[in-house]
Amino acid sequence: MGIAGFGKTEIRYDMFALEQSADEAKRLVKCESIYHRGQEMAWDGKDILKMLVDKHGGIHVAPEKKEALKRIFAIILWGELAAWKISAQLADGLAPLEAKMAATSQAHDEARHFYVMYDYLRALDYVPARLDRAPQALLDLVLDTKNLAYKLLGMQLMIEPIALTVFQTVRETGVEPVLCELMTYYERDEARHVGLGMQYLPSLIKGMTKAQVGALLTFQVRLLAWAVWENKVLEKDLAVLGVDPRALLERGRKKQLAALAECFNALKIPAERTLPAQALNAVIEVMFPTEETKGSAVKRLRAAWRAWKTVQKGTGAQEFDVHNAHAIRTARGVLAGERAAPVAQA
Ligand SMILES: [Fe+2]
Ligand SMILES: [Fe+2]
Repeated sequence: MGIAGFGKTEIRYDMFALEQSADEAKRLVKCESIYHRGQEMAWDGKDILKMLVDKHGGIHVAPEKKEALKRIFAIILWGELAAWKISAQLADGLAPLEAKMAATSQAHDEARHFYVMYDYLRALDYVPARLDRAPQALLDLVLDTKNLAYKLLGMQLMIEPIALTVFQTVRETGVEPVLCELMTYYERDEARHVGLGMQYLPSLIKGMTKAQVGALLTFQVRLLAWAVWENKVLEKDLAVLGVDPRALLERGRKKQLAALAECFNALKIPAERTLPAQALNAVIEVMFPTEETKGSAVKRLRAAWRAWKTVQKGTGAQEFDVHNAHAIRTARGVLAGERAAPVAQA
């Protein structure tokens, strides 16, 4: 703490003088463009929700699906608040100007996601309540860690791809027209947020010892364990919406691997061969058996062992193309969908 302007200060006068390689400099330029892109693509939450409600003549959901939808999107609601807090923590904690700008822009987006989701859920008679243990534990791990690399890995490369998976999958069910169209707006923002993790996490990992990288991967396993449990808790609600939880996990796994690979490849570490990726493959087989392995513990364990040994390569940043292909109405005007993934190019 400084006294009368002397001594330690929270102002990072060294923020422009941080040593960086040519590759890092390139990555930081991409971080900066996440901020500017966020400004171009910002949409007016009040305006868009009203436009969608008017367009579809109100919110219409089959009575038997309403409670399931509310339970799933209550997790999204509090997840958006957590994302808002975490991106604000990152905006404060990250030192380089460009990474700080990207996190600040994300905090602005997450605030919009939170209030729009709250307005939407209120229209479904949602009463705010505490989350189940699994999603609470998952969000708390990322909220509470002081380690910025853990925070970036947990938020941008793991929670964001999970959110994108839920948004895309629910949108494809067509369960409620207003929500499904609203998801296209959320998807465009969240896909951009993944970019900060892809571009800046390598800079935080590169100074780590082997033991520190090991601890980071252990943290990732803890996050995955809660994420898989959360999926188990939601299994019944997902089924009501016609979503197969195993297919949802499979899609989420692909998106996470694509995001992680982009980051780990910069450090020449094959993301698909890390402990968390292999553990996840095996755990899916045990907790979400197929028709073939459903009745037999031995068959499940055999499938888990095979999954552990099988290296499932990620499909790359094009995994996010689907989210960037949506045309949306921004505060500046209509913005067309894009084929190339700005997360990779941002
Ligand atoms: Fe969000
Ligand atoms: Fe986000």
